[in-house]
Amino acid sequence: MNIKLTAQLPKTHTQKILKKEAKDKDSSCLVVLVDNNKNILASDSLTEYQERIEQLMAVSHFSGKACETVADYALAGDKKTTKANPLQLLIVGVGAIDKLNHSALQKIAKTIYQSTQKRVASLTIALGDALQENEFSQFALNLLAATYRFDKYKSEQTTPVLTDIYLLADNSLQSALDFAQSVFVGQSLTRDVANEPGNICFPAYMAEQAQELGKKYSDILKVTVLGEKEMSALGMECFLAVSRGSVREGKLVIMEYQGKSKFTANHSASYRDNASSAAKAGLKAIADKLPLKANTKKGSNSDAPIVLVGKGVTFDSGGISIKPGAAMDEMKFDMGGSASVLGTIQALCEARLPINVVGALACAENMPSGEATRPGDIVKAMNGKSVEILNTDAEGRLVLADTLCYIQRYNPKAIIDVATLTGACVVALGHVRSAVFSNDEDVLFELENASAQSGDLIWHMPLDDEYQSLLDSPIADMQNIGGKGAGAVTAACFLSRFVEEDQAWAHLDIAGTAWNSGKEKAATGRPVPLFMQYLKNSVDMA
Ligand code: BES
Ligand code: MN
Ligand code: ZN
Repeated sequence: MNIKLTAQLPKTHTQKILKKEAKDKDSSCLVVLVDNNKNILASDSLTEYQERIEQLMAVSHFSGKACETVADYALAGDKKTTKANPLQLLIVGVGAIDKLNHSALQKIAKTIYQSTQKRVASLTIALGDALQENEFSQFALNLLAATYRFDKYKSEQTTPVLTDIYLLADNSLQSALDFAQSVFVGQSLTRDVANEPGNICFPAYMAEQAQELGKKYSDILKVTVLGEKEMSALGMECFLAVSRGSVREGKLVIMEYQGKSKFTANHSASYRDNASSAAKAGLKAIADKLPLKANTKKGSNSDAPIVLVGKGVTFDSGGISIKPGAAMDEMKFDMGGSASVLGTIQALCEARLPINVVGALACAENMPSGEATRPGDIVKAMNGKSVEILNTDAEGRLVLADTLCYIQRYNPKAIIDVATLTGACVVALGHVRSAVFSNDEDVLFELENASAQSGDLIWHMPLDDEYQSLLDSPIADMQNIGGKGAGAVTAACFLSRFVEEDQAWAHLDIAGTAWNSGKEKAATGRPVPLFMQYLKNSVDMA
C-alpha cells in the first residue's frame, strides 16, 4: 500500500452525474469525515464538493456517529456486467471530535479501508488539520495495519483493488507519516512471524528471521545466535530446562541495533566494543560471565543501549504439566514477545533512530517427552540461583530468567522484557491493556507516556515485596510458581530476581494483547507501536 500526504483533491467528479467511469482499478474516491454535529472536517479544502456532501448527508439522514458511512457512486454503471458503479465519495462519521481516542481512530481507519478496498484503486482522505500529530500518526498506522493480511496458507488469495492512499493534510506531518510507515513494516513482521504455525516457526526459524534482518540492514544491525551448547557453557540451566523436552534446539538470538554510533557525531567507544568482542570471540568470551563494565553505574554511559527481551516459546504445550486441549493451538503465539522485539528492531532499522538498542529473543519449544523436565526438578540459573520447577507450564519465566542474566553484560540504560507470560494477566486486564511492572519510576513514566501517545495501552501493576515470599521453596532458592492468587504479579516477581538491584527494568505481560482469539484468530503486532513510541521519545530526551 502506498500512503502519501497530498495537497490536492482527487481529480474526479465535481458534477452529480458522470459519464461512465473508467474501471475500478483506475477509480478514485474522496473520503470525507464528518463529526456528530455534522461538521465537515477539512471543509476549507472541500468547497467544490460541499453541495454534494451536504445533499448526500441530507438524503441519507447522516448523523455523523463514529463509523457511520454513506457512499455516492457514479450513476453510469456497466449494465452488461454485474460490476457495480464506481464509488466516488464516501462520508464517514467520526463521532464527537473531542472523543477521538485511539480506539475510535482505529475503528474509523478500519471502516474506511473495508468500505473501499474492493471498489477503488485510490483514496484521498480529507483530514485538514483535524488531527494532532500523535493522532495523525495513529490514524495512518491504523490505516496501514488494516491492510495487513496473512493468507499464504489459503489456496486462493484475493488482492485488494486499493493500492494508494492519499492523506489531504499539512506537509508538516510528513515525518509523522514516515514514522508510522516504519512502525507498520516492523509490526507486520511481528504479525507474520507470530501467525506462523508451530511446525514452521520454531527456535531456528526465529533465528533465521533475525539473521535475514542482519543481512538486510547490515550497516546498523548485528545478529548473533547462541545454541544450546553455548547456553550450557554459560550455565543457563533454566532456559535449557524448557527446551530439553523438544527435538527443536533452543536459541538465544541477540540483535544489536547501532543507531547512535551511526547517526550521531559524538560517538565514544562504548558497549558496542565490549559486546561485539564477546560475540566475535564466540563461546570462550561468552562463557566469561563477568559484567563487561564492572565499575560504572548501570546505563550511565550515553551510548548504553536499551535492551528489549522477548519470550519466544514457539509452542507451549505446557510440557509434562501439559495443558488442557481446548485452544491449545493458540500457544503457537507464545513467541509473541520475541516476535514484537524482532519487529521493533526492524522498525528501528527503517526509522533509523539515533539510539542503541539490543533485542534478545529467548526461543524454545516447550514439549513433553522422555527427556523433558519433571515437576520437582531443580536447576541453576546463570546467576547461580537455584529454582525448583514445580510446574513445567510456567516456562516463560525460566527462559527469560537466564536471558535477563545474560543481557546485563550490555550495562543497559533500561531493560524491558515482553512476554505472553500468564493466563492470570488475561483474567486481570482482558484484551485491552498489557500489564506493566517496573522497579524504576522513570522507565515506568516513559512507558505510560508512550502508551498514551501511541494508543498501544498498558496498565501499571504492583511488585510489592510481600508477593515475593509466595515463591519461597523448601528446598531451593525459589520455586517457579506462586500460590493461587496474583499469578501475573508472582511471575513478574520471579523475573525481578534475575535483574540486578540498581538496574532499571520493566516487564510487560502481553498474554491478553498479543493476539485475538476465535474467528479473528491472528497476531496483533502489539506492543510494537508502544515500543517505537518509547524509543522515539528516548531520542528526544537524550
Ligand atoms: N504461555 C502461558 C500463558 C498464557 C496462557 C498466555 C493463556 C496466554 C493465554 C504460560 O506459559 C503459562 O502457561 N502460564 C501458566 C503459569 C502457571 C502454571 C503458574 C498459566 O498462566 O496458567
Ligand atoms: Mn506455559
Ligand atoms: Zn508460555
